[in-house]
Amino acid sequence: MKRRNLLVGGVAGLGVAGVALWKPRDQGGPHDAYFARLNALLKAHGHGRPTMVIDLERLNHNIDTLTAGIGSKTYRVVVKSLPSLPLLQHVMQRTNTRALMVFHQPFLNAVASRIPDADVLLGKPMPIAAVRTFYRREHHPRFVPAEQIQWLIDTPERLEQYLEFARSQGVHMRINLELDVGLHRGGFADHEELDGVLHRIAEHPHLSLAGFMGYEPHLAGVTDELSHPAVQTVLDVYRGFLARAGAQGVATDALTINGAGSHTIRLYDDDTVMNDLSAGSGLVKPSDFDTLNLSEQLPGVFIAAPILKRYDKLMIPGQELLADAMTLWDPNTARLYYLYGGYWKAGIVSPPGAQDWMYHSTNQSPVMTSTSVDLTVDDYMFLRPTQSEHVMLQFGDLFVFQGGGPAASWPVFHQTG
Ligand SMILES: Cc1ncc(COP(=O)(O)O)c(C=O)c1O
Repeated sequence: MKRRNLLVGGVAGLGVAGVALWKPRDQGGPHDAYFARLNALLKAHGHGRPTMVIDLERLNHNIDTLTAGIGSKTYRVVVKSLPSLPLLQHVMQRTNTRALMVFHQPFLNAVASRIPDADVLLGKPMPIAAVRTFYRREHHPRFVPAEQIQWLIDTPERLEQYLEFARSQGVHMRINLELDVGLHRGGFADHEELDGVLHRIAEHPHLSLAGFMGYEPHLAGVTDELSHPAVQTVLDVYRGFLARAGAQGVATDALTINGAGSHTIRLYDDDTVMNDLSAGSGLVKPSDFDTLNLSEQLPGVFIAAPILKRYDKLMIPGQELLADAMTLWDPNTARLYYLYGGYWKAGIVSPPGAQDWMYHSTNQSPVMTSTSVDLTVDDYMFLRPTQSEHVMLQFGDLFVFQGGGPAASWPVFHQTG
């Protein structure tokens, strides 16, 4: 009997210890010095609405470190990932490049109107209707599409559409051929097909071959090593197409051989196959870019969301008892805030321990915290976007800060136009 009691007592004790072990601890706390300073800055200078902020010092650090190995190659700025004219101009000036990679017709028109000396490579093939729209819209008189744009072509059929357009409009178009270097997102994979396309380009004075473009984000997990077999497999695809084009009489030395992205650009510091490398997102490092080769870069873009309301207890509509029980179990649900906006492609990074899983709203988002978070109405919470592309367009002008002060207000591109 005594033994049985001991056993029951032991099991109960283990249960209590287990529960104590599993019970969530208070993860909350105040903003750290970085976000406390940003909070004060926005309270003094912000508009009081959700704002995308850019840390100029971190941006500059990321620009310098991400492009440090570019050498004599061309650094090409990815416009969709940094969709703001002054932001692009800042990056272009600091890296001394005129090369841009563009993915969206309205952005192409904006670049052609506002950066008349830009050297543009399309990052995806534009439907012929979008090409027509581009030509219909205004561009700067000094911007010469026939010399400053490389149109991306992925199939012989699209080439025929472009050829027909160039002929009918009496314009010259520079053609860059998309290669499937292993991502399998389209592009040429077959040398025979290349022969036919090169032949078509060569026989028509309205077209000329400007280069090849590939993209290989599937190498994001490969360490900083050019000799890695996966990297060499990608480079072999370029080498194969270049040799084939050379055999067809193409002067391959004069071509733009583009590749890479933020995840992989540093793999090619010592490469000589490509002469043109792209990157954009890594300069502001949203959370999807917490990858192997971007450990040196720092998060440089945040969403600042004003706090609208605060309750000092968890409130769940019609579920008061459940709310109390939840807080009893998890101290990180003891306080309830409502943010201005929410449900972005982003996660809360400050204050610590804030959770937004109750439900999502794009209008007013509930956020639960422990009592160790003592922010008040009109303070800000901070989220880190998962990507800069598209998310950056949702907040109006970018609030650029440096140290403890505002540095600039940078308008973003329009999605249409
Ligand atoms: C063709 C191409 N090149 C390069 C990039 C790299 O852009 P980022 O550095 O912003 O990831 C992308 C991104 O989608 C791409 O599609």
